[in-house]
Amino acid sequence: MVTVVGIGPGHPDYITPAAAKRIAEADVLIGGKRVLSSIDVDGKDIYYITSDIKSAVKVVSENADRKVAVVVGGDPGFYSILKTIRDRLPKIAIEVIPGISPVQLLFGLIGREWQDVALVSVHGRTVDELKEVVGHNKKVCVLTDEKLTAPEVCRYLKGFGVGGRAVVGKNLSYPDQELVDTTIDEVAGMGGLGSSILYIEKV
Ligand SMILES: C[S@@+](CC[C@H](N)C(=O)[O-])C[C@H]1O[C@@H](n2cnc3c(N)ncnc32)[C@H](O)[C@@H]1O
Repeated sequence: MVTVVGIGPGHPDYITPAAAKRIAEADVLIGGKRVLSSIDVDGKDIYYITSDIKSAVKVVSENADRKVAVVVGGDPGFYSILKTIRDRLPKIAIEVIPGISPVQLLFGLIGREWQDVALVSVHGRTVDELKEVVGHNKKVCVLTDEKLTAPEVCRYLKGFGVGGRAVVGKNLSYPDQELVDTTIDEVAGMGGLGSSILYIEKV
């Protein structure tokens, strides 16, 4: 049985009982280093997911007759390895345990609803699709990575004359959480803030 388990933004307080149960039952845990450091891995066979996604999928396939939990940050249905596993291993039944996305936590922290926010990711991607999404939506939430950081994205948007509110959440739920609530212009002038969530509200 292969289960893809979402454990939320990182802090154990946000792991649901359903996710904790599946993890406790698993013989094999597969996940990123940071994600696996948030849970109890004692007595389990561990496989760390790196940029070599093919190897991770191979480990899933080779252990499919055992209790495998592929542990992901946030929710499996939102930019995770779930689609890759499903596409590459079409014959394996996959159970999905939803998790709380750090996007939800960001909106909780600023006390705002997010049903009218366009969601996009530049994590491991290019800024190309951003222009269209930002062109068509007043409110946009962007998952950024270490290369295309929140300041980098804001510089790109500023180049098209886009201004307004910018909120950046980094390491959300962790002790080193950072939350910056300012303007696109200000964030464009900053450094760091990689692998964060950027929320922009155009004026
Ligand atoms: C592969 S995506 C995972 C998305 C996740 N499945 C979700 O539900 O949001 C990785 C990106 O999610 C964001 N992310 C994940 N955990 C985060 C956290 N604790 N704080 C801020 N951003 C986070 C970052 O933008 C990171 O580059």
